[in-house]
Amino acid sequence: MKILVLNGSPKDKSDTMRLTSSFLKGMKKRKDLEIEIIHLIKKNIKPCVGCFRCWKNNEGQCFQDDDQKEIMDKYEKADVIIWSFPLYSYAMPSHVKAVVDRLIPFNKMTMKEVNGHVVHAPRVDLSSKKLLFIAGCGFPNFDDNFEGLKIMIENKFGPKAETIFVSETPMLNEKEAEPLTTPLLNKFVEAGKYYSLNLSLSEKIKKELETPMLPKETYIKIVNSL
Ligand SMILES: Cc1cc2nc3c(=O)[nH]c(=O)nc-3n(C[C@H](O)[C@H](O)[C@H](O)COP(=O)(O)O)c2cc1C
Repeated sequence: MKILVLNGSPKDKSDTMRLTSSFLKGMKKRKDLEIEIIHLIKKNIKPCVGCFRCWKNNEGQCFQDDDQKEIMDKYEKADVIIWSFPLYSYAMPSHVKAVVDRLIPFNKMTMKEVNGHVVHAPRVDLSSKKLLFIAGCGFPNFDDNFEGLKIMIENKFGPKAETIFVSETPMLNEKEAEPLTTPLLNKFVEAGKYYSLNLSLSEKIKKELETPMLPKETYIKIVNSL
């Protein structure tokens, strides 16, 4: 089984990738996995220019000759795609958004209605792929912080795309925070094991992973004392 990990953090020591790496460590208990990690910040991926040539006369090919071709090729061949990135301005970082926008050649211009949503019909059938989004963020508040991203993922990738949203992730690279971060990282290892066998997460596991490490007030107090 092919697992493609798209790391969207621009940092060498990504807080979010600490979670994702623990998750992958758990997944590796299953021996038939082929895992590839792509660091998107190192790729040359230009923004979509909105010409719709990929829909009109290029039969699903973007005219831009850059690394998005490689991403789409690997995306098509993968069984599971794990997106890992930090929350930026209540959304995904711009270089990750460029990758998402440039996925439009996977669809056609033709519109259809699915469960009350108008979508573009697929040109490539990606319906069997498992999608998991792991996102970290700097604020302690949860619902209003991730809401925009959640809706975007649901609309763009469909209701089956799974998400793990984690608050307070800058703590993950702080040595003094280890008494709080190590138990969370261990939960990600366990979750990875579960996911590798079930290719889905249970509500219980998701809740455990998304529970803040510190109460909001304590976290704010610590941040403001730095
Ligand atoms: C440009 C920018 C925008 C950000 N926007 C948000 C935000 O909207 N909400 C939030 O909680 N954290 C925000 N953050 C904080 C990051 O999500 C946080 O530092 C995260 O742990 C970084 O993860 P990484 O190390 O994996 O890149 C932002 C950080 C940057 C640099």
